[in-house]
Amino acid sequence: MRIEITRNPTDLARRAAEHFIHLAAQAIAEKGRFAVALSGGSTPRSLYTLLANDPYREQVRWSAVHVFWGDERCVPPDHLESNYGMAREALLAKVNIPVENVHRMAAEKPPEQAAEEYERILHTFFNLKPGELPHFDLILLGLGPDGHTASLFPGTPVLHEQGRLVAAPFVEKLNAYRLTLTLPVLNHAANVTFLVEGEAKASVVRDVIEGKRDPDRLPAQLIRPANGVLIWLIDQAAASQLSLRQ
Ligand code: 6PG
Repeated sequence: MRIEITRNPTDLARRAAEHFIHLAAQAIAEKGRFAVALSGGSTPRSLYTLLANDPYREQVRWSAVHVFWGDERCVPPDHLESNYGMAREALLAKVNIPVENVHRMAAEKPPEQAAEEYERILHTFFNLKPGELPHFDLILLGLGPDGHTASLFPGTPVLHEQGRLVAAPFVEKLNAYRLTLTLPVLNHAANVTFLVEGEAKASVVRDVIEGKRDPDRLPAQLIRPANGVLIWLIDQAAASQLSLRQ
């Protein structure tokens, strides 16, 4: 695990953009494509905006990029809460990525049906044999104040889901269904990168990274890519309660 601390959110977005561009170039050089699962919420918006503009936009061969989502709210794509909607508005509508390369979760459909459909999309794209897991080149993750990541919320059964690639958990605290990649998929990625900023996340960052292991209470602690590189990109405010502050 590597922790990179930036002075402020602007530097964080820049560092994240450089990281994205580097991994995309590496995967495209090696395999001719870059499969990335985007995170949702508000933090990644500044990263997506940077990637949509020069000088970053032209450093990505968008025709070879395939975009997926790590999780999604169960709302239509044009809904304010939609992770797809945010990424589309901040990035995807502004770069030359082929429409067939954008693999949206059909979150307007009944949750279980949407999860099954997304599983099929993953099986087809990654040409999976039974029991095989998708191998994303990069999965971006955020961190909620309660220690959730993607839509893996504390104390929910989906934390123990080992068989499915995509699940549709009902999240009591939100009184809403979510769609989420499951832990086996998240931990099978070549690169998993947390992007976390702000004072409000400082205590949960400390608890997840340096606190007692308590994954049911802090699901982000379950992110341990078996053969992948785990990086925390955090700004100084979010890192302010880490004892190892550089
Ligand atoms: C979501 C995200 C979720 C998010 C965290 C942090 O759909 O909300 O996938 O896991 O990354 O809740 O959200 P913020 O960036 O808004 O703090």
